[in-house]
Amino acid sequence: MDPVHQDFFEGGAGRERTVAGNERAFERRWIVPRVLRATGERDLRCSVAGTPLATPVLVAPTAFHRLAHPDGEAATARGAAAAGTTMVVSMAATQPVEEIAAAGATLWFQLYPQRDLAFTEYVVKRAESAGCRALVVTVDSPVFGRRERDLRNGFTDLPAGYACENMRDATGRVRPIEMDATVGWDRIAWLRGVTGLPILLKGVLHPADARLAVDNGAAGLVVSNHGGRQLDGAVPTLDALPPVAEAVQGRIPVLLDGGVRHGADVAVALALGATAVLIGRPVLRGLATGGAAGVRETLERLTTELDQVLALAGARRPADLTPDQVVTR
Ligand code: FNR
Repeated sequence: MDPVHQDFFEGGAGRERTVAGNERAFERRWIVPRVLRATGERDLRCSVAGTPLATPVLVAPTAFHRLAHPDGEAATARGAAAAGTTMVVSMAATQPVEEIAAAGATLWFQLYPQRDLAFTEYVVKRAESAGCRALVVTVDSPVFGRRERDLRNGFTDLPAGYACENMRDATGRVRPIEMDATVGWDRIAWLRGVTGLPILLKGVLHPADARLAVDNGAAGLVVSNHGGRQLDGAVPTLDALPPVAEAVQGRIPVLLDGGVRHGADVAVALALGATAVLIGRPVLRGLATGGAAGVRETLERLTTELDQVLALAGARRPADLTPDQVVTR
């Protein structure tokens, strides 16, 4: 891969403290197994916002898949479908959502709210028509994070021949993705008026915001710091999860992303209150090295590991894991 593109995929904001902190938060947790639970075969199936999943590991929305592999987002979708899970299509995807949907995976669509409401509605309707089953609104990006690797490399735009295909307006012109610092809770109400799709909010870290998300009709939320690409110094997601889960009280599903690299990490997140997790960079590495098969292998490896961790920890289903089964050292 072009090292400039690799820096884009792997890098984060500022000093990359939050990138490192997400993974380190998992290293501090230890699982306390239960014994003699007679779990038998494990059952990893779950359901999030009306979408059934064979495994509680989803594909996080990430930009520019054609820079990782020529088959792009469609290959990622094929890998996700083969692994029985859902892919969240990024608004910054380099293939049209209709083409990605043709790969046969269950899709959700990620949205950065745009200032132009008519255009936002147009994009949402397009995702809906393509068969996306939920809208994931990214709320941690009122402005763009300072990605120092990209600044050093002068990486500001897609190379010629690539475009954010889902940013085309009715005339076929590709609009630039804008971050909008004027977006507030009223925009979520507006979105609920234009689509019947369940709306999940991605990028919630504070328990007060989690309560507001419930009050404002969110169908779920993702505890996320954008993989450390927005606010450097933001709390590691695993540390933010317990207070958020406590605030939500099971009223809506709580998902988590950031630093999930092994089945044991998935198990710890589930025990601390997540219904499912999403993975970003591991999927991009699988895509870059093996296309659709690489994505499938990445997802299946995590799922196989999770299955074994559940058995060894005395749980039959993801929901059987409880917070007392995790200690922090
Ligand atoms: C992202 N992420 C992201 N999030 C989003 O809402 N829209 C987007 O377009 C992107 N694009 C993007 C590109 C790249 C290269 C990365 C690495 C990440 C954030 C992503 O959804 C997720 O929050 C993190 O990737 C999760 O952390 P890990 O698994 O990469 O540690």
